[in-house]
Amino acid sequence: MAHTITLIPGDGIGPEVAHATQRVLEASGVRIDWEVQEAGAAIAEKRGTTLPDEVLASIRKNKVALKGPIGTPIGKGFKSVNVTLRQSLDLYANVRPIRSLPGIEPRFEGTDIVIVRENTEDLYAGLELMIMPGVAQSIKLITEKACTRICEYAFEYAVRMQRKRVSVVHKANIMKLSDGLLLECFRKVALRYPRIEPYEIIVDACAMNMVRNANKLDVIVTENLYGDILSDLGAGLVGGLGIVPGANIGLECAVFEAVHGSAPDIAGQGIANPTALIQSGVMMLHHLGEHTAANRIEKALLATFEGGMRTVDLGGAVGTEEFTRAVCEALGRA
Ligand code: NAI
Repeated sequence: MAHTITLIPGDGIGPEVAHATQRVLEASGVRIDWEVQEAGAAIAEKRGTTLPDEVLASIRKNKVALKGPIGTPIGKGFKSVNVTLRQSLDLYANVRPIRSLPGIEPRFEGTDIVIVRENTEDLYAGLELMIMPGVAQSIKLITEKACTRICEYAFEYAVRMQRKRVSVVHKANIMKLSDGLLLECFRKVALRYPRIEPYEIIVDACAMNMVRNANKLDVIVTENLYGDILSDLGAGLVGGLGIVPGANIGLECAVFEAVHGSAPDIAGQGIANPTALIQSGVMMLHHLGEHTAANRIEKALLATFEGGMRTVDLGGAVGTEEFTRAVCEALGRA
C-alpha cells in the first residue's frame, strides 16, 4: 500500500535535505505518494501568506507530513510558521531522540537520551505586548491540561521504548505557579507508572548535568522554551544539529522534522547534512508501521558513518549528494 504524505521542503537548506530524504525513503522500497506543499518566506512573496490554507488541509487529510526547516525573522516580521503549524494542528509533543552515531566524535560515548518538549504553549504562545514605550511583556502560558498530557506522553513513551526514567525539567523554585503546575502534574502522572522512575531537576542544573552525564536523565519532559534550548545543547553533545531528528505528534496528525533550522549560511552550496531529516524520516516510517524499512534505513545510515563518510559539518569533505548516494547504496546491502 502506498502512503500519501505531505512534503514541505521549507526554506534555506530545506529543499536540499528534503530531496535527499525522499531518495533514501524511496530506496528503502516503501511506496510514498508525496503531496508537495510550499510554506515559508518564498511562498509569502507569491501568496501573501507564509502558511496557505491548503498546507494545513493537506496535513489534516494525510495525517502525516515530512517538513524541512522554515526561517522566522528575528525581532520583527511574520509569526513563526513552525509555531503556527504546531498550534493549529495541536501537535503537542515534540520528540527529539539524541544519540551518538558511530564515526562521529561525541562529547561522550553512547549518549542516548530523548527530549519530550511541550509544543503548544509556554512563552511560545505569542502573547506579547509593549506595556508602555521601553517596557515589553511576554506572557508564559502554562495549563494543567497541556502539562498533564505531555507528562502522560513522556511516561507512555518511556514504557513503549523500555526506558527506565523520566526527568522533568523545570524552574519551579522561581516560577512557583507556572513551572510549579508542571511539577504538580508530573508527580500525579508519575504515580500511574510505578515501573518508571520519576526524577526532578531544575533547568540550570539539567544543562550542567547534560554535559557531564546526559544518560542519567534518560527521557526528559519539559516546557516549550527549555525543550528548545536543551535540544540544541543535546545536539552539540552528539556532533551537531546536522544529525538530530524530531517528531511533532498530535492526536490526529504528526509532522516529522529535524531539530535544525534553515541554515541560511550554507544554503544552496550542496553541503548540508541530510542525516537529521533522514532520521526524522525513519521516525515517520515507524509511526506509519513500516518498521522493516525504518530499521533498514537506520542500519544503512550507521554503516555509512562506520565507513568513515562525513559531511562538512562533521569535519569531513563529503557533500549532500555524495552522502545521500552512499546511504542509498548501503541500503541496497542492508
Ligand atoms: P540553524 O539550525 O539553521 O543553523 C545553526 C548552525 O548549524 C549553522 O551554522 C548551520 O549551517 C548549521 N546547520 C544546521 N543544520 C545543518 C545541517 N543539516 N547540515 C550542516 N550544518 C547545519 O539555526 P539558526 O541559524 O539559528 O536559524 C536559521 C533559521 O532557521 C532561522 O530563521 C530560524 O528561525 C529557523 N529555524 C527553523 C526551525 C524549524 O523550521 N523547525 C528550527 C530552528 C530554526
